[in-house]
Amino acid sequence: MIRLGVNIDHVATVRQARRAHDPDPVAAATLALLGGADGITVHLREDRRHIQDRDVRLLRQTVAGRLNLEMSVAGDIVAIACEVKPDEATLVPERRQELTTEGGLDVVANQQAVAQAMDHLRKAGVEVSLFVDPDQRQIEMAKLLGAHAVEIQTARYAEATTRSDRAAQLQLLRESADFARQHGLHVHMGHGLDYGNVADVARLPGVEELNIGFSIVARAVLVGLERAVREMKDAIRIAGK
Ligand code: PXP
Repeated sequence: MIRLGVNIDHVATVRQARRAHDPDPVAAATLALLGGADGITVHLREDRRHIQDRDVRLLRQTVAGRLNLEMSVAGDIVAIACEVKPDEATLVPERRQELTTEGGLDVVANQQAVAQAMDHLRKAGVEVSLFVDPDQRQIEMAKLLGAHAVEIQTARYAEATTRSDRAAQLQLLRESADFARQHGLHVHMGHGLDYGNVADVARLPGVEELNIGFSIVARAVLVGLERAVREMKDAIRIAGK
């Protein structure tokens, strides 16, 4: 069964809109786990636009499932991760102007910075996953750098507007997952996945974990988080049958 990591950044986005105490992502994590999440994912961004340091520290103490910290390779963020020790760190690119993470980390172009961050994290006992495009060069480099897993970005698949483009993007994801597995990497996927497009991705052989945030939190505003997570778990489970 594929693991579902629920990204709760956007619970914190609502809280930060008023710099208030509620809604608390720590409470959201508990509800997501009750709904069947296998893990909790948060992105501690350098600009702290949603998740705060306090959230990460409290989540480390309270989340019974896996805690996956999405992060850039910036030194101060790496230092926090080494101290908090999430189960897994997913290295992502980060630009201040972006609405959300745009594209995978270019591990080929940023080899040195990525290697350095990975070295610190591994010494702290944190598994490292690299968020990359469905591109064999990037996956090969992730393996060379000693990553535990790759999270293959699904944004272009999710954003495809024609059937043929969607099929082509899905095929690229399939080939990338095969390639990563042949290189001994664990395969995660995420970005832009929702209740309608998750099934085809969940059926790809070898995918072990999906990280999904926006669509779940958006539905949770209307139906509650526990139910929104359960419905996503069901969509993944049904696809796997
Ligand atoms: N995986 C990674 C690496 C991400 O950066 C994000 C967005 O924070 C997600 C998954 C979740 O994407 P979405 O919110 O579109 O489901």
